[in-house]
Amino acid sequence: MTGKTCRFFPNARCDNWKPSNVAARKKPGTVSLLADRTRQDEARACRRDPIYDPNQKTMIDIDSQRARVASELLVFYLEAGVDALLGESPVDRLGSGATEDPPRPAEAPASAPAPPSQQGTRAAASFAAAQPAAVRSVEAPPPLAGPSPAPAAPEAAVMAAREAARAAASLDELATILAGFEGCALKATASRLVFADGNPQAAVMFVGEAPGVEEDREGLPFVGRSGRLLDRMMAAVGLDRSSAYVGNIIPWRPPGNRTPTPLESQICLPFIMRQIELADPDILVCLGAPATQALIGTKEGIMRTRGRWFSYQTGTREIRAVATLHPAYLLRQPLAKRLAWRDFLAIKAALTGGS
Ligand code: URA
Repeated sequence: MTGKTCRFFPNARCDNWKPSNVAARKKPGTVSLLADRTRQDEARACRRDPIYDPNQKTMIDIDSQRARVASELLVFYLEAGVDALLGESPVDRLGSGATEDPPRPAEAPASAPAPPSQQGTRAAASFAAAQPAAVRSVEAPPPLAGPSPAPAAPEAAVMAAREAARAAASLDELATILAGFEGCALKATASRLVFADGNPQAAVMFVGEAPGVEEDREGLPFVGRSGRLLDRMMAAVGLDRSSAYVGNIIPWRPPGNRTPTPLESQICLPFIMRQIELADPDILVCLGAPATQALIGTKEGIMRTRGRWFSYQTGTREIRAVATLHPAYLLRQPLAKRLAWRDFLAIKAALTGGS
């Protein structure tokens, strides 16, 4: 209560007074449904009257009503795939308040490690650290106080990823560098890095989109339901994880298995590209549209690109790449397995020199 007296209970302290309610009361005219409703709500909130809950068909008090609504909201969040808390308070990035935000810092203070919620800022810092002094000395605005700022410099994170990936001289080094890379916020919510599985010396490499919950638990790609289907598909053409290498565009599980954002894919792309270059397979198989679009650069849907052969520049040589349907899609659309079967036969023929 900000010095206002509750108009319904003048002697009571009112925590529910809102300027918007006052605005509604001030509406011209004697009868306004909105104003009337607002008054009733205000009165009820001030008194904390029991209210009728049509679901439970009984009168309940406001506190238990609030608790019920809050728990329903949590269930809704869980069902919508929200399974991690990234900040203590919500940030309205679209509302009018967004324009009132102070400018975002270009880089984090070098001395203090940033919390996970400031991934972009940390990426900017590691990128800045790699720059010549003249570039680094660009004055940064003061750090933000208050709730988790959004990543500050996406392009800095992408450049930091490119530099980090380029620095890896072997797959082991790449995995170590990736494990220490702080430029992608997904790392903060994932349990572990999911780098690769299978034989890095294999002639064929399969690349999917991003780990799911089981991959996140085990730290290996394609070990969940779609992984088991992938294993069966590979076995059908005489392949297994000793004769194939498996990775993903994104090496950390997106929270709730949500689709990775374009920025997250962009940040992770240099790493998978370097992984392909270092593994140096003869044939690259892109599983699903996201991997195909990220690696081959196609804009068309997977139904148009699947089964087609492309040339892929690893950085040291040109290899053959093919797109096929993602096993997760095949689990939902079993009829499409016949298309994937054709693609796998073509992969087998390419590996045995048949086409
Ligand atoms: N889907 C993917 O794209 N990758 C995995 O590792 C698992 C499921």
